[in-house]
Amino acid sequence: MSHATTSIAAEQDGPADIALSEFFDGHPVATFAIDTAHVVTHWNRACEQLLGWTKADMVGTANHWQAFYPRPRPLLADVIIAGAAGLESELERLYPGKHRRSALIPDAYEVEEFFPNIGASGHWLHFTAAPLRDGNGRVVGAIETLRDVTERRVAENALRRAHDNLEHVVDKRTGQLADINAKLQEDIAQRLLAEAELRRSNLELTELNQQLSRAQQQLLQADKLASIGQLAAGVAHEINNPIGYIFSNFRTLQNYLDQLFGMLDAYQRAEPSLAAPDAATLRALRERIDLDFLRQDIPTLMAESGEGIVRVRHIVQDLKDFSRVDANQEWVWADLHRGIDSTLNIVSNEVKYKADVVKEYGAIPDIQCLPLQINQVVMNLIVNAAHAIGDERGRITVRTGRDGDDHVWLEIGDNGSGIAPETVSRIFDPFFTTKAIGKGTGLGLSLAYGIVQKHSGRIDVDTALGQGTRFRVRLPIRHGAATEDPTA
Ligand SMILES: Nc1ncnc2c1ncn2[C@@H]1O[C@H](COP(=O)(O)OP(=O)(O)OP(=O)(O)O)[C@@H](O)[C@H]1O
Ligand SMILES: [Mg+2]
Repeated sequence: MSHATTSIAAEQDGPADIALSEFFDGHPVATFAIDTAHVVTHWNRACEQLLGWTKADMVGTANHWQAFYPRPRPLLADVIIAGAAGLESELERLYPGKHRRSALIPDAYEVEEFFPNIGASGHWLHFTAAPLRDGNGRVVGAIETLRDVTERRVAENALRRAHDNLEHVVDKRTGQLADINAKLQEDIAQRLLAEAELRRSNLELTELNQQLSRAQQQLLQADKLASIGQLAAGVAHEINNPIGYIFSNFRTLQNYLDQLFGMLDAYQRAEPSLAAPDAATLRALRERIDLDFLRQDIPTLMAESGEGIVRVRHIVQDLKDFSRVDANQEWVWADLHRGIDSTLNIVSNEVKYKADVVKEYGAIPDIQCLPLQINQVVMNLIVNAAHAIGDERGRITVRTGRDGDDHVWLEIGDNGSGIAPETVSRIFDPFFTTKAIGKGTGLGLSLAYGIVQKHSGRIDVDTALGQGTRFRVRLPIRHGAATEDPTA
């Protein structure tokens, strides 16, 4: 260490100075002082400990920069000595943004800065410098105190890092939470969608199930009709021939009987002119067989048998219709309303004493059909309706209408007995009847069903016991164009 300059302390080494020096030395805060020539006058023990340079190294020299920097440069105390002019700009140049005026000591400044050259890994120092003045207020030097704030700065830094870290963690967590939340919302939305989808599928399934059971019923019905149809065809064929010759023989027989009765009359008239024994024998014979009664009874028996034969022929005809052995009809365009009207005329005897017929015809086009068969359907439905009406006069309603582009419908409703729920599934069965023996064959509705099916249509019934029944027949306008889906 070179001592190029002389210290003011060395020059004025009086007792007061020694006392001041000792106070200075014992002061726990690292402190040094310089004179106006920037020469170190004081360098206390705390300063030695903090900076690693002894009083002997420093006092009397202007080398105090060495304790702080690798290269010469002014310290805060040096700047303060330089004076007021240009002080602020010099401070700003040396300690940009770090210096401030002391709140306690006038004309003093303080700075906090890191010094990488002090100690093994550098130190943070908070230092304050103030001018020293003589009795006249003239600046004679400057004093600078240094506080080691490394621990505080390290703690602050750690705190800041911890804070930053915390913020980062919070940010991250917030982000994660937002993600989870979004995912949750999405989950909920998807679950709602899935639920709706499930409900829809369920509805569809129920609908499908209903269609299936309807289809099954129709199939069952068609199946029954098919086997009954075969049976009916066989029976009709077998009965048809004998009933044919019974019918024609019966008429011949009627003829013969008439002739025989005529002849008997002639004999009876000739009786008085006969010889006594013969006449007596004849009379006895006539009385024995009660000829008068026979004369009355035979025509009655013949008439009843005749009716019976006609009925059997009718049933055979129905059976033949039912089994569709008479397949030689033609599909023609026909006016449904005309068919209904003529059918109503034919059955008017069955209806007129029991019910009023109300017609509500809609605007419908001609349809391509087998008109005689359709008439038969209408006839069966109207006769059934009339039969369902009790003693009180009822009402039969005949309605028609259009169903979409391709279909028409007709309805025959009555306010009669209605059909019991346990019966309604059987009414289309062949030979099912609730009517007295001889009153109904139970073929009417199964015939109607077969005919409607042949037309690719459908027939439905709607009934309430004690209130009435409504049959609805739906038919395609064009034959073979739109095949009715029996499950629809
Ligand atoms: N409009 C109706 N109101 C109440 N019951 C009805 C009606 N139509 C049909 N039925 C019931 O359906 C059964 C079957 O009818 P279907 O026309 O097939 O035979 P039927 O009328 O008894 O005899 P058929 O028509 O061969 O003379 C009837 O016996 C009756 O019980
Ligand atoms: Mg009937």
